[in-house]
Amino acid sequence: MGKDGQSGEIAVIGLGYIGLPTAIMFANAGFRVTGYEVRKEVVDKINSGKAHIVEPEIEELLARAIESGNLRATSDPGEIRDKDAYIICVQTPLRKDKTPDLSYLENAVKTVAKAMKKGSLVVIESTVPPLTTVKMAKLIEELSGLKAGEDFHMVHAPERVMPGRIFKELVYNSRIFGGITPESSEMAEKLYRSFVRGQTFKTSSTVSEVVKLMENTFRDVNIALANEFAFLAHQYGINVFEAIELANTHPRVRVHRPGIGVGGHCLPKDPHLLLWPAREDFGLIRLAREVNDSMPLFTKDLLFAALKELNVPPEDAVVTVLGLAYKGDSDDTRNSPAKAFIDAIRDDVKAVKTYDPYVGGTSGSVEEAVEGSDAIVVATDHTEFKSLNWEELGKLMRTRILVDGRHVVEEPPRGFLFKGIGRGDC
Ligand SMILES: NC(=O)c1ccc[n+]([C@@H]2O[C@H](COP(=O)([O-])OP(=O)(O)OC[C@H]3O[C@@H](n4cnc5c(N)ncnc54)[C@H](O)[C@@H]3O)[C@@H](O)[C@H]2O)c1
Repeated sequence: MGKDGQSGEIAVIGLGYIGLPTAIMFANAGFRVTGYEVRKEVVDKINSGKAHIVEPEIEELLARAIESGNLRATSDPGEIRDKDAYIICVQTPLRKDKTPDLSYLENAVKTVAKAMKKGSLVVIESTVPPLTTVKMAKLIEELSGLKAGEDFHMVHAPERVMPGRIFKELVYNSRIFGGITPESSEMAEKLYRSFVRGQTFKTSSTVSEVVKLMENTFRDVNIALANEFAFLAHQYGINVFEAIELANTHPRVRVHRPGIGVGGHCLPKDPHLLLWPAREDFGLIRLAREVNDSMPLFTKDLLFAALKELNVPPEDAVVTVLGLAYKGDSDDTRNSPAKAFIDAIRDDVKAVKTYDPYVGGTSGSVEEAVEGSDAIVVATDHTEFKSLNWEELGKLMRTRILVDGRHVVEEPPRGFLFKGIGRGDC
């Protein structure tokens, strides 16, 4: 790394939702960046100047990075030798039994240990269980013979971006650099200052790991609370969204939004990562996870209650699910509650049709998806769904049931049997 923190050669390991935008930012800040990615088709696409993920501004920014010659992708570990910095952005998912699968991270660290030189900085951007960065530093020591904190530097620098706003948030979010030594934190801070305009903070790697996991656990637990408020709204016959809006006029209250469930690569897993290395846990975080995981089934209950009210036998019902992505205006379907909902109803109904403007393999249009169907279930809050003309769509349906799992409908449309999560008033 140049002394100014503005020049040098960087390898980014894993070019997914986080790694590709990060590689682009460093390349456009003037660094020579090699993106190392095991999926060959992703490498080819990136080198041809095309992004494999949907994200505002990504096409222009990627084209600039490739055309400048500052960014190249590769699947050849030989091309990432002797870099000044390695930035690891691989996935850290859960196994079926909800324990962390750190095999991608370990493989990436092994690749880096073989490629790095004396003086390299290794940054883990992936979200990891507490104490992982220190363990990975030991693994590098064993494989490379280099001494952590002396011959190489290592940092956990968690990523806080939100898909759909990645390129803005990469610049303006505040960042934490958790080093295995203060010098490691300082080196990473200097490096990221090449494009970060938000505040930067330095700490230890374990604090940094815990901070990242606390942030997502905070959100998960608060969404679970909002979901429990939604259950109560059905008991009291009120609209939970009206109640939340009013509660949030309190200066110190910020109730989250209930919905069909919590998805994505982060929120459903990060509370498990936080608890994993702990000697014991105390129930609340796990219970919140269970509440959020139960929401697709609660949505199924709403649908089946509506079918019963209109005397449609479930086994004859054709159900249209609008939205497969886990969040609005994204193509990301990882851990999507829409999928969990479809899995929960598939064997009980005649057919499930889907439409998602961002996700391939679904109907070509919303009209095609609702034609002849008995019920629409909104599972994603894509902007497009907020302005749909439900009454016109209803004309194409066999039975008019609308179940809103994402609060995209303010007023129940005329002619429909309407049910919504937290809409005990309908
Ligand atoms: N996606 C988000 O919004 C987000 C936000 C904050 C934090 N994170 C965290 O960032 C990390 C990465 O998430 P993501 O969404 O970018 O994941 P991703 O699955 O989109 O990308 C990971 C990439 O790494 C590649 N890869 C896996 N093993 C590799 C190896 N050994 N060598 C080279 N490439 C390898 C995969 O093929 C994939 O392309 C995760 O820990 C996640 O929790 C993600």
